[in-house]
Amino acid sequence: MERKKITPVDIQKMKEEGRKITMLTAYDYPTALLEDRAGIDIILVGDSVGMTVLGYENTIPVTMDEMIHHTKAVTRGARYALIIGDMPFMSYNTSEREAILNAGRFMKEGGADAVKLEGGASVKEIVRAIVKAGIPVMGHIGLTPQTISMLGGFKVQGKDAQTAQRIIEDALLLEEAGAFAVLLEAIPAPIARRITERLKIPTIGIGAGPDCDGQVLVVHDMLGLFDRFTPKFAKRYVNLSHEMLKAFETYREEVLQGIFPTDQHSFHIDEKELEKIK
Ligand code: KIV
Repeated sequence: MERKKITPVDIQKMKEEGRKITMLTAYDYPTALLEDRAGIDIILVGDSVGMTVLGYENTIPVTMDEMIHHTKAVTRGARYALIIGDMPFMSYNTSEREAILNAGRFMKEGGADAVKLEGGASVKEIVRAIVKAGIPVMGHIGLTPQTISMLGGFKVQGKDAQTAQRIIEDALLLEEAGAFAVLLEAIPAPIARRITERLKIPTIGIGAGPDCDGQVLVVHDMLGLFDRFTPKFAKRYVNLSHEMLKAFETYREEVLQGIFPTDQHSFHIDEKELEKIK
């Protein structure tokens, strides 16, 4: 079957037809290329790049320029997946105008198809303004890493009736503001199920149980490339850190012992040409 570029309309259709939506983060060309080849529906250039690739303590220092740089690499690698640029801290919270201009940069400079931003009631007018400017927006509620100090650390959200009710209301407000999907992070599975049932737009879960319309993982978590901490919800499909370390150690040993490079890895010159050289 011929593959077509995925749009937010296709993502909506997947919910209506009960087809699960797959999403992963990517921050570079080769990862985007492989995720796209694997048939992943949505690639998020997450601000998690700050921790997984740039080595920051958290996502707060990530800048728009850094996000655009990584988004460009991802859009060069993926032809079919819907590409979402993650709006970094303080790129959308100061004014609607600045939010629209920064969201526009993801599309114009980065080549992204949509943006994601964190928050519920507090950002609903910003979401509305960006959507009105013609840019599709994915919401992100529950555990929102950019406001982690306000939430008291990386903790499951919505564990009592009052906070769970607030998360449900945030989801409804984002839908009303025009978001095309909502990411639900680290909330109890029954709350995510209720939200998924009540919203017309798709929900994408990470640590939100099996009943969301789709799932997302941070690619460095699922590949075993980030071990500063591993959230309970991050399933590791392979331990690439282990494989990379083994390869680096073997290479070092082989160079030290003269095992690498061999004749097979070397270039040659005709003996007659060699003799002509003084
Ligand atoms: O930045 C990110 O990687 C995220 C995850 C929750 C998917 O937002």
